[in-house]
Amino acid sequence: MKVINTIAALKSLLEPIKLAQQKIALVPTMGALHKGHVSLINIAQQQADVVVCSIFVNPTQFTDPKDLEKYPRPLEHDMKMLEDAGCNVVFMPSVTEMYPRPEVWHIDLGPAEFLLEGAFRKGHYQGVTQIVKKLFDAVNPDIAFFGQKDFQQVLMIKNMVAYFNMPVEIVSCPIIREEDGLAMSSRNIHLTAADRKNALVLSRALGYVQDNFTAHSIPELLKEAGKMISNTPGVVLDYFTIANGETLLPEEDKTHHPIVALVAARVGQTRLIDNMILN
Ligand code: PAJ
Repeated sequence: MKVINTIAALKSLLEPIKLAQQKIALVPTMGALHKGHVSLINIAQQQADVVVCSIFVNPTQFTDPKDLEKYPRPLEHDMKMLEDAGCNVVFMPSVTEMYPRPEVWHIDLGPAEFLLEGAFRKGHYQGVTQIVKKLFDAVNPDIAFFGQKDFQQVLMIKNMVAYFNMPVEIVSCPIIREEDGLAMSSRNIHLTAADRKNALVLSRALGYVQDNFTAHSIPELLKEAGKMISNTPGVVLDYFTIANGETLLPEEDKTHHPIVALVAARVGQTRLIDNMILN
């Protein structure tokens, strides 16, 4: 496994591979790797010749400086995870390598940018697409893998790729969960034992909505899910919605495809998101 810190070194490693018409995959991450990240690497390995994983805690996508500061950075653990997964290249640039000077970034990501996570984290998707564009430019991948865990993020990245006509295929991969249903997340390590238990209501409420999608109306499903969450101590709901999977607007027509239930809540001090596709 090669560990690379600069764009120049990365390009000189990857350009011959590209010229030899080998397929290059990119899995962008912010580190603090878990089985969810590894699943993306494994799916990438099945579809490409060379898998590049980037680890970069991207400052421009954080709206809360404290969140950026406390973001976990367990470097040795991450290297071992990637080595064990058989990742070929790790790209780990510094902040100045990716942002040599302050840059204002604004592209039109469509109206869904400002919904759900975009409403709670102003400018978040501008920051995400800014760094993903820079990573795509540095790696020049044929294909890039993202988790459905961040459902809105995948949509925004697809919109960014369309905006620039970038020749990269975007693949959305299934959410990996703990045995009890909690979606894996780098932020889960901040949960206390009590938070960890209370957090289960999120996947339980989504599962309830998924299991009862044909039997009940959408307003009934939302009411029941809302009740489950508001009855759980220590959980403050930001949103629970049943939405059109393309526009992210509330969906009333059950025949639309896909429909997705999305939730965000603060559990203790930690903000968690999760979702399930319903049809
Ligand atoms: P990060 O939160 O590290 O996630 C990296 C990738 O792993 C994302 O595509 C995310 O959706 C996926 N992922 C996280 N938890 C998962 C799970 N439980 N199952 C499957 N996939 C999961 O998302 C980011 O970083 C950043 O915004 C990034 C795209 C790297 C840009 O900075």
